Amino acid sequence: MIVSPLNKLVCPLCAKPLVAEPSRLVCGAGHSFDKSRNGHVNLLPVQNKRSLSPGDSKQMVQWRHAFLAGGYYDAIAEKINDLVSKQLTTRSSLESYTVIDGGCGEGYYLTELATHLRRLSLATEVLICGLDISKWAVQAAAKRDKSIQWIVASNKSIPVNRASTDLILCAFGFHCYDSFADTLKSGGVLILVDTYEDHLIEMRKLLYPTIKPFQPASNDGAIEAGFSLSHSERLTVKRDLPRADIERLLGMTPHMHRAPKEGIEKVTSLEHLTLTIDVSFRVFVKD
Ligand SMILES: C[S@@+](CC[C@H](N)C(=O)[O-])C[C@H]1O[C@@H](n2cnc3c(N)ncnc32)[C@H](O)[C@@H]1O
Ligand SMILES: [Zn+2]
Repeated sequence: MIVSPLNKLVCPLCAKPLVAEPSRLVCGAGHSFDKSRNGHVNLLPVQNKRSLSPGDSKQMVQWRHAFLAGGYYDAIAEKINDLVSKQLTTRSSLESYTVIDGGCGEGYYLTELATHLRRLSLATEVLICGLDISKWAVQAAAKRDKSIQWIVASNKSIPVNRASTDLILCAFGFHCYDSFADTLKSGGVLILVDTYEDHLIEMRKLLYPTIKPFQPASNDGAIEAGFSLSHSERLTVKRDLPRADIERLLGMTPHMHRAPKEGIEKVTSLEHLTLTIDVSFRVFVKD
């Protein structure tokens, strides 16, 4: 299968199509967005930023990158690959297929997906885009795979045409159901990956004096935005982490800032920790 960067982006200021020039993207109204050396573009207008540097910090991105490189979440990547390829292998059209990862972070899952899709013997061309509101995340992702278009943008306002996209993946990300529904074609697919009840439970028990009761992610927001749930499943695996990776994992999560000092000290003084990875996958179809 051929994997190419999604090339049909629209201007975040006026929604006119963006045309690619060697060093920038430009719309008919003259709004211009420079391409970085690695080919990524920043399509997040200043007025859509809540802070100077929204999303994950440079340090969090570095920790996530280093942790994911250890392969501890490989089973999650494999499940995403399966769910996406199932969509492709069961469709009849040979038209190109568009995939967007909303909140792609430093690009681990999307890069794994692109590698997996390249190995499938299907004639369809897949156009892929990873977006994240964190410029640090997108800078890191853009070093991974040049056959993906990486952009700085928000899930709240995805800079592509309405009803243009076949599949949106949102892994541990910020769910913007109305924007996802606007962006997807009718019959398009939304895959949500979220933490479940026992996710990192061993670490959380050390970090906090009490654990809040688990609230499963609700389907209501997606259903109100015009989606139907077509499939859901849970993945639970155990992984043994050495000290360096425990620290990286802690650094890439909000626990680093939320947990009491004593809890952080308990966790960071461990030589090893066996952790449960517990994740839900929900596949929605746009009505
Ligand atoms: C928990 S991380 C997950 C990253 C990646 N999906 C992964 O699992 O490795 C959440 C990501 O969402 C990004 N993010 C937060 N708000 C966002 C928004 N409004 N639009 C797009 N990305 C956003 C953060 O910068 C961060 O990279
Ligand atoms: Zn414009």
